[in-house]
Amino acid sequence: MDDNVLIEIKNLHKKFSSVIAVNGINLTIKKSEALGLVGESGSGKSTLARLILKLIEPDGGEIFYPAIQNIRRDCQIVFQDLQTSLNPRMQVGEAIVEPLLVHKLLPRTKFAARVKELLEMVKLPATYARRFPHELSGGERQRVGIARALASEPRFLVLDEPVSALDVAIQVDVLTLLKGLKNRLNLTYLLIAHDLVVVSFMCDRIAVMQAGKIVEIGESRQILTMPQAEYTQKLLQATLQF
Ligand SMILES: Nc1ncnc2c1ncn2[C@@H]1O[C@H](COP(=O)(O)OP(=O)(O)O)[C@@H](O)[C@H]1O
Ligand SMILES: [Mg+2]
Repeated sequence: MDDNVLIEIKNLHKKFSSVIAVNGINLTIKKSEALGLVGESGSGKSTLARLILKLIEPDGGEIFYPAIQNIRRDCQIVFQDLQTSLNPRMQVGEAIVEPLLVHKLLPRTKFAARVKELLEMVKLPATYARRFPHELSGGERQRVGIARALASEPRFLVLDEPVSALDVAIQVDVLTLLKGLKNRLNLTYLLIAHDLVVVSFMCDRIAVMQAGKIVEIGESRQILTMPQAEYTQKLLQATLQF
């Protein structure tokens, strides 16, 4: 297999009773790239992400991880809505180091220093370690989610609609932060969004998903200026209307 490949997906299928969520996907994620995944709600984006992270099992097909040793540690996800994915009774500091506890990656005596470092990475004050999720703004909660995802020093991050719930001005802040972290930590991203503008801000390549299939994939510039699939053209028109 090509040295540049981080994850290789072959003919992947996933059904939920009668719903075919992922229908024969082939996709290569290259080392250090930011790959965008766009498509309307229900097209199967999150299901594909969960399959890649091995949170669910496929009904058919295979995923290869030629350059990843430990999927649980090296592959992490940031969700859209941390209101629901952060434990409301857990302080920010505890939430951030929870993955380190789970993977036994760090002795307890080193936790405080690591929390401080991770908060710094996402540009939050160290004092935030003692806050509870309801004491944060939406943008701050996303930053905590990013810090938590980075705690185990992953190589690959799935960002599943990471800014969809935020005001536009805050979206830019969080995306800029993610862009900086990607370079600094040499990360590979799969950025899921329904907004082509968000994806093109960040991504080298874009895959367009419709009804469980990838209908088009290419360099971001090419997708934006010369979309081939009718569905991509429609998505683009819908984006440009706003
Ligand atoms: N756990 C599940 N049980 C049943 N149906 C599901 C489940 N997860 C996803 N689906 C269905 O699979 C399809 C794809 O969903 P999803 O991957 O969440 O799409 P997207 O992230 O693109 O909005 C949808 O029809 C959704 O209702
Ligand atoms: Mg989704």
